[in-house]
Amino acid sequence: MGLLKVLVDRYVGVVAPLGSGTGHLAQPDPEMRLTVSRKEVVAADGDVVQLTLQAPDGAVLPLWHPGAHLDVHLKSGRRRQYSLCGDPADTGSYVVAVRRVPDGGGGSLEMHALEPGDTVSVRGPRNGFPFVADGRVLFLAGGIGITPILAMVRAAEFTGIDWLLTYTGRSRSAMPFVRELEQRYGERVFIRPDDEYGVPTVDDLLGAAPAGGAVYCCGPPPMLDTVQTGFGKTGAHALHFERFGAPPIVDGRPFEVQLASTGAVLPVSANESALDVIRRHRPDVPYSCRQGFCGTCRTRVLSGSPDHRENRLTADERREEMLVCVSRSDGRLVLDL
Ligand code: FES
Repeated sequence: MGLLKVLVDRYVGVVAPLGSGTGHLAQPDPEMRLTVSRKEVVAADGDVVQLTLQAPDGAVLPLWHPGAHLDVHLKSGRRRQYSLCGDPADTGSYVVAVRRVPDGGGGSLEMHALEPGDTVSVRGPRNGFPFVADGRVLFLAGGIGITPILAMVRAAEFTGIDWLLTYTGRSRSAMPFVRELEQRYGERVFIRPDDEYGVPTVDDLLGAAPAGGAVYCCGPPPMLDTVQTGFGKTGAHALHFERFGAPPIVDGRPFEVQLASTGAVLPVSANESALDVIRRHRPDVPYSCRQGFCGTCRTRVLSGSPDHRENRLTADERREEMLVCVSRSDGRLVLDL
């Protein structure tokens, strides 16, 4: 088999990316029950586990491409998204890595409690952060943001493009896959823990951005904000990023939500989301991405005019529903909660 055929077979999405490039909704979205076949600790502080998931009957799993994630539906009803960080050429298993967040919404603790033999329900893979192996690339990863980047780095190396990775985190011990990256890729990788180098500046992050090339970034909000702010001054032509958690609220104004079940009126300030306010009163209200793309938080609107700030709902759906994680209002919304 010639090299080109091997490349195409192994990284079909890299050399011929999915048609839409970013279309969450256009991609296949089968629901599957998968079994945890392996569980490993992958950060020295013990707080990141890697889980390998396989079909109980060993069936071949749907293809994925670097940057893709799985929607994991946990027994509690929580839904969480985890980037696939294994090898796309391994069609028999999916690999995800999860950092324990003790004061988070509980999803990471539930993932950490899984043991080999347990099953989870998943949907996907979906890809909102597709990688195209073309030209020179700078990868930037912060903490657990290394997970989608790991698959991209592997693809970049395999296809022979020129790439570099700057990987930041609180400390070396809190950063998963450090040893693997250093051993496999040597000087292409700069491990940059904050406790050794200080919090990274724009120059620290983007100084190696390739002229005419691309930057792929995944990390916490402060890192993404720094990169977005400084990117215009680099000579790179494209910035691709994936954010953890809620994006910053832009032009937020205070409004109110009323819960139809109790009549409670809850003020939402200019710098918080309706979801955050609602969950203080109703912790059972489901959410996942907090970015307006997964649809988990969709809620019926009984009266009022939402300011829809997402691209997920259709015009018809917007007449009756809203995504309370990102959408807002100028007045009062009565919600079917
Ligand atoms: S939580 Fe994903 S769309 Fe709101």
